[in-house]
Amino acid sequence: MKKTYRNMSMTKQDFFEYQAQTSPHPLALEVSHARGSYIYDTTGKAYLDFVAGVSANTLGHSHPRVVEAVKEQAGSYMHVMVYGEFVQKPAVELTRLLASHLPAPLETTYLVNSGTEAIEGALKLAKKATGRSEIIAARNAYHGNTQGSMSVMGHEERRQAFRPLIPGSRFITFNKEEDLENITERTAAVLLETIQGGAGFILPSDNYLQKVRMRCNETGTLLILDEIQPGYGRTGKLFGFEHFGIVPDILVMGKGMGGGMPVGAFTASKALMALLKDNPKLGHVTTFGGNPVIAAACLATLREVTETSLMAATLEKEKLFRELLVHPRIREVRGKGLMLAIMTESAEMTNYVILESLKRGVLMFWLLFEPNAVRITPPLTISEAEIREGCSVILDILDQWHD
Ligand SMILES: Cc1ncc(COP(=O)(O)O)c(C=O)c1O
Repeated sequence: MKKTYRNMSMTKQDFFEYQAQTSPHPLALEVSHARGSYIYDTTGKAYLDFVAGVSANTLGHSHPRVVEAVKEQAGSYMHVMVYGEFVQKPAVELTRLLASHLPAPLETTYLVNSGTEAIEGALKLAKKATGRSEIIAARNAYHGNTQGSMSVMGHEERRQAFRPLIPGSRFITFNKEEDLENITERTAAVLLETIQGGAGFILPSDNYLQKVRMRCNETGTLLILDEIQPGYGRTGKLFGFEHFGIVPDILVMGKGMGGGMPVGAFTASKALMALLKDNPKLGHVTTFGGNPVIAAACLATLREVTETSLMAATLEKEKLFRELLVHPRIREVRGKGLMLAIMTESAEMTNYVILESLKRGVLMFWLLFEPNAVRITPPLTISEAEIREGCSVILDILDQWHD
């Protein structure tokens, strides 16, 4: 029998009743519509969005260029065939444009439906290419929630209940040079987030990624970089690895790539990617990967990010956030570009900041494994005035904190 909830709209009641839940306490903001940097709830309240759908809404909400591309493509054709059989212009143009913005040998892209699925594809490709099975990932890494991605999740508490997972994964500590000894001739791939997300927006330091790259070269190991969060301009470059003077063998992307539509992809050299088409054939297939409507949204997003000054502006906006977010209760602002985290003094303070800000109409969120961090990952299109408005609310809320 259906439970009744007091003071809740029917839709919200049905959300709790019929829609599977991911946590005991979802924010449960009932969305009416969203435009630009704002989400509006069904009471008409506006929320300044400092989360961007967890780094997915690169161009804010319902960007006209993305909406137009989606409408036009939906009116022309939607799903017509499984991935890889038919020539569909949106996917072809997207993969070609991506290749033109990537360094050699990253030239061929496999389109899938989500970030975690792209990680699965990348891991399979590395195993097939090397004939090895060991995957090395980092402690506190997050790569998604399917079982392959969970096998390389560096957080035992979150994966324990789902064991046994895929054997052969080992963990190193991000930024710890001594641990690179663990990469050997048995290792198929090292999989790292270019900037660790769930761990607390941790940047590689002391040429760490260059050292990883060198060790991979020595041992014939493939380097897979997960750019699902930092990718697509969020750090001021199209992909985060461009800051660190290396090129991965396999680049994984998702989230912000779709401008608000669900997508994932992995890119590698043509020779490497060719391994997925034969022996066995259909070694990696997907029904909806490369979907023309999604690809059209991705293409519009990529064009907007690369044809405008958005990426350069991202670094200016980071500067402004850092100038404004100075407060005795803020220990540090971590991250790069518009992938920033305020480090507070405690998990309680983090919860307080996020929940009070929500009441005041500024949307922020948690990071997966770092309880003292408040996520700030707004759309890249956010304006200076909106940044000032949101930061003044945060500072005000911190002023009111009582120990
Ligand atoms: C670094 C990273 N990898 C992988 C994923 C998984 O992507 P998806 O949720 O689209 O499966 C995420 C999502 O949060 C992520 O941030």
